Amino acid sequence: MNAQKIEGSITLVTGANRGIGRALTEALLARGAKKVYATARDPQSLGDLHDKRLVVLPLDVTDADQIRAAVEAAPDIEIVISNAGVSLGTAITDIATVDHARREMEVNYFGPLKLLQSLAPTLARNGGGAFVTVGSVAGLTNAAFFPTYSASKAALHSLTQAARVLLGAQGTSVFGVYPGPVDTDMSRALTFPKTSARDVAKAVLDGIEAGQEDIFPDPFALDFSGQFEASPKASERQFAAMVTAMLSGSAAAA
Ligand SMILES: NC(=O)c1ccc[n+]([C@@H]2O[C@H](COP(=O)([O-])OP(=O)(O)OC[C@H]3O[C@@H](n4cnc5c(N)ncnc54)[C@H](OP(=O)(O)O)[C@@H]3O)[C@@H](O)[C@H]2O)c1
Repeated sequence: MNAQKIEGSITLVTGANRGIGRALTEALLARGAKKVYATARDPQSLGDLHDKRLVVLPLDVTDADQIRAAVEAAPDIEIVISNAGVSLGTAITDIATVDHARREMEVNYFGPLKLLQSLAPTLARNGGGAFVTVGSVAGLTNAAFFPTYSASKAALHSLTQAARVLLGAQGTSVFGVYPGPVDTDMSRALTFPKTSARDVAKAVLDGIEAGQEDIFPDPFALDFSGQFEASPKASERQFAAMVTAMLSGSAAAA
């Protein structure tokens, strides 16, 4: 696994307009990136970010034409950070669950898969570089607050492992990022202590620069990783207890 230097690098970030993606974009610029392709569904949502090293591109990761256009517009990419994601947070018993689960798979799994397929040749041409997926601890152990989101992140984790093997041959390092609760729009409903997107972005870039293939970028994730490594079953029981306690708390409050 090759460490990647951020200073002087050319990186593409998906979902760069808010949350962790925005923090990553700002951290890349602060650490001396040569160019950052900041992509978003609505490019205007990046209009307040001014830096001559920034190239804003429209990119919905579920839109094959927009992925194709981004690949053409950005032939010099060395690092891809596949960050965009959605959590639609429905219980398995909700009527909308199957539609929401499909949407989560489209954005959280098929999007990164298409991006990986489309950008692997660019990375190869530019010396290998790195592909970074932003997953979740919930992709390693299902967090049944958001059961179908967790399943989509499990699929992404599996894809990340495959990409590490298959892109290794062309010299591309593949990093998996597994955050715990981060203070962004996505986790607004969660009552746990959360890490700031800024601290998470810093830890992600530190991990890439250290050549750390699995990046646990916050205290919750670090604790989780220690336990998960020792016993995946203990992690499953811990998450089950957290979810049960939260659900019985909301039932009591209702
Ligand atoms: N927050 C957490 O606690 C947490 C924990 C673990 C992992 N993560 C992961 O971290 C990543 C970033 O999440 P966040 O916390 O920063 O959430 P967020 O604040 O809700 O931001 C999500 C980002 O993804 C973008 N996005 C959604 N659908 C997209 C699509 N089809 N194409 C392109 N971009 C799309 C959003 O763009 P729009 O503004 O256009 O919607 C937004 O920029 C996600 O992969 C998430 O699963 C988050």
